[in-house]
Amino acid sequence: MKGIILHGGYGTRLGPLTLSGPKQLLKIANKPMSQFALEDIKNAGINEIAIVIGDVYPEKVKDYYGNGSKFGLKITYISQDKPRGISHAVGLCKEFVGNDKFVVYLGDNIMRKDLNGFVKKFSSSTDDCMILLSEVDDPSRFGIAEFNNNNINKIIEKPKNTNSNLAVIGIYFFTNKIFEIIEKLKPSARGELEITDAIQLVLKNGYNLNYEKVTGWWKDTGTPEDIIHANKLILDNLKNYEKLNDNQKISIGKNSTISKDCCINGPIIIGDNCNIGSEVRLGPNVSIGNKVILKKCKIKNSLIMDNCIIDGSISLVDSIIDQNSEITTNVKINEIKLLLGQFSKIQI
Ligand code: DAU
Repeated sequence: MKGIILHGGYGTRLGPLTLSGPKQLLKIANKPMSQFALEDIKNAGINEIAIVIGDVYPEKVKDYYGNGSKFGLKITYISQDKPRGISHAVGLCKEFVGNDKFVVYLGDNIMRKDLNGFVKKFSSSTDDCMILLSEVDDPSRFGIAEFNNNNINKIIEKPKNTNSNLAVIGIYFFTNKIFEIIEKLKPSARGELEITDAIQLVLKNGYNLNYEKVTGWWKDTGTPEDIIHANKLILDNLKNYEKLNDNQKISIGKNSTISKDCCINGPIIIGDNCNIGSEVRLGPNVSIGNKVILKKCKIKNSLIMDNCIIDGSISLVDSIIDQNSEITTNVKINEIKLLLGQFSKIQI
């Protein structure tokens, strides 16, 4: 089997964080979100991956993943000029796929359960398409599978009204029959070639469509709230913690120093070369990138990316501070929620 990771789109709901790069390179628990997809695919035994890159700083994706050798993979890049839809992006991969079966992984989806069992099941089946379903509270945000008894009878994109809460998550298994279907698609009301329309046609044309329900969490990281929640879920499951006591799951990178009078409440990840100064209170659910300097501040449920400085009695909650930002304050600031793009500077 082969793998495809979608790395295009604009990520508009992530506001200033996506002005400086594709959203899928934003780090969650100190790892670019698309790397979770990449590792998931690799761990399922797939070594040939195409990454579909869009028109938002695509060179940053190439710089990070290269030819794939440092991840033990072969990576091919395929360009999509504009976000014309998930089916459009998949359609561009026809030549890359050839006669193989393949899995498509949206680069902003993260799944707790590993892909291995699903890959094995699909590769040994006679199915033309397999989708993964997960229960959601807000069906109007997702592609939804509607059922008649135990059979899927309809796949609809972001329905206003539906009797189903089973979302089609952003991991899809196909044979190359999907390309003839994609060629027949027309743009939806929002002007995109929808993946859900392609799957609906799989059903309508009488091809074999199968599904699996996903156990454990799955996250589409489309909004800042989703990223903060995904950060918590990943930190909860992180391996290689240094356990200071039963409640403290803390991972500390190389050459990082932590002052003795800090109060740290896991789960927390701290990158390399950080300086966590005196009176800092961290946690729970905090990711600190590399080369971060913190003094006197309090941070909870938040992500602080590489090269940031936070200096002063400020209490950050549910915040995302992107790379190279600086916050300094001489006054005490009680709980505040910030979303800062790269190179922001705040002085209070
Ligand atoms: O997360 C699961 C949901 O993903 C599904 O339930 C929906 O059926 C599916 O349409 C999709 O919905 P979203 O609204 O979340 O799709 P979004 O536009 O955010 O794009 C998903 C990913 O695919 C994202 O990483 C960007 C990438 N993409 C998207 C488009 C439209 C591309 O690479 N190219 C594109 O043209």
